[in-house]
This record gives sequence, C-alpha cells and structure tokens, in this order.
Amino acid sequence: MQNIIEIKQASYKYEDESQEVLHQIDLNVKKGEFLCVLGHNGCGKSTLAKLINGLLIPTSGSVTVCSMDTRNEELLIPIRSRAGMVFQNPDNQMVATIVEEDVAFGPENLGVEQAELRQRVDNALDAVDMRQFALSAPNRLSGGQKQRIAIAGIIAMEPEIIIMDEATSMLDPKGRREVLETVHRLNKEKGITVVYITHFMEETVLADRIIVMSGGKIEAEGTPKEIFANTEKINQLALEVPPSTKIAQKLAENGFNVDANILQPEELLEELCQLV
Ligand SMILES: Nc1ncnc2c1ncn2[C@@H]1O[C@H](COP(=O)(O)OP(=O)(O)O)[C@@H](O)[C@H]1O
Ligand SMILES: [Mg+2]
Repeated sequence: MQNIIEIKQASYKYEDESQEVLHQIDLNVKKGEFLCVLGHNGCGKSTLAKLINGLLIPTSGSVTVCSMDTRNEELLIPIRSRAGMVFQNPDNQMVATIVEEDVAFGPENLGVEQAELRQRVDNALDAVDMRQFALSAPNRLSGGQKQRIAIAGIIAMEPEIIIMDEATSMLDPKGRREVLETVHRLNKEKGITVVYITHFMEETVLADRIIVMSGGKIEAEGTPKEIFANTEKINQLALEVPPSTKIAQKLAENGFNVDANILQPEELLEELCQLV
C-alpha cells in the first residue's frame, strides 16, 4: 500500500529555543491507516502533528504529504486542505455563529462554488451525525458535539488525512466516545487516514498501529497488542496499559486463568464469564 505521509530524518527546533524538540524522525503512514501517537507532555507530539500539515517546516529532513513536500511553499495550501487538524480546545475552533457557516468556512476559503458548498456542508454534517444542528449556535453544543463540528469543517474540505491533536482531552467520557467513534467510522467508510494523538490508552486499542514518543523521538512502535504486551517498555516509558488490560493482568498475577493481553472491555467481560 501507498504511503500517504513520509517523514524522513525530520528534526525540528523552535526559532527562539536552543534545543531541538524533534530528532531525526522517520515515519511512514499508509493510506487508510489509523495511527495513534502516545507520549508524555512535551515529548513533541503536537510539533510532529504540525509538521504533517505544514504548519511547521522541518529544520532538517523532509515531510511529504500526499506526495507533496512541505518545504515547497506553493504546496502549503493544498497540503493543509488534504491534512486537516482538530485541536484540543473545542471553543477555540469555532469561527462562525451558526454551525453550518462554521463548517462552510474552510471550503469557502478554498474557493468552492455555492452549489457544491451546500452539498459539501450537508454531507459533512451527515458524516459526523450533526445535520439536525445545522442552524444551531455552536455555543449551545456540548464539547463532543463541537469537536464533531470541527471534524465536519475538515470533512467539508474533502481531506485525505485527519490529525486529531488530543482532541478529546477536554471532553467528558460521552463526548470522547462520540468523537472517537466518529473518526473510526470516517476511517472505515471513507478511507480517511487518521493520525490520532491522545493520552488516553483506551482510545488506542482499535488503532492499526501505535507509536510512542519520548524526548522528541519515536521510542516504540507496533500494533496495540504488541505495544501493551511489552510491559518492560511500557514501564520504561512510564505509560499505563488500558484499564481492561490492567484488570486482566492483575487477575492473571493472582492466579486466575485469564488472558492478560486483552485490550477491550468486551474481551475482559468474555474472560470473566469464562471464569465463573
Ligand atoms: N511555540 C513554541 N516555542 C518554543 N518551544 C515550544 C513551542 N511549542 C512547543 N515547544 C516546546 O517543544 C517541546 C515539544 O512540545 P509539543 O510538541 O507541544 O509536545 P506535546 O504535544 O507532546 O506535549 C516542548 O518542550 C515544548 O515546550
Ligand atoms: Mg500537544
């Protein structure tokens, strides 16, 4: 399969800082992949996300998105419309006072014609299951609904990649679930590639692949099963395993015959049912 994102030996240093914050990152992401990025505060996740959508340009090395090199300034607008980003704070991302105007903002700026714009906005609102709120005021929505509108604004630009930068961290559990389910559905049904940055371990269990960053480098990479089975690495990186895995591990440690490598609540339930 084709790589939609190719990062080669990319480093980044903020202008006013003396130290690099990303060190020679190599990372390929396949078209249609759901990639999760884990790592503690300050390890460089947001900087990496910004390199991917051309908000920042690597100080050395290269980042190529949909075959476009982000060092080429003329490509920055197409790159940003191909790789849309959803940020942490749902309230900072609304630009209009009516939901549908907010969703229309991105494609309108790309010069999309009125008739097509209408269609795109309706489709985008359908895609995040928010059509009934088209004429609502964004400030009346819940956090999860606001993030789904932010996602719709990106969908309306017909992106190939959605980058979620801790986009669920300010939401309650229900909002987090809504948003996570929405991006998984867009990944499956529309084949949109997802780069999902989070610090909630349980949000990563359905990903195709996880990378764990630390100190500006990628320190671990693998499927969720591979990542969370490597207890030594998890401890070394001071990460946790998902809650269901933690319970299963404790039971196994205490002599119960359960699979300690499960990741999801449903799997845990199955193990528990077999015990009783
Ligand atoms: N605009 C900036 N100017 C200078 N340093 C920054 C800036 N943004 C982030 N940093 C620094 O870069 C490092 C990585 O930050 P960031 O990419 O935001 O990490 P994360 O998203 O994993 O928390 C941190 O040490 C942070 O303080
Ligand atoms: Mg961040």
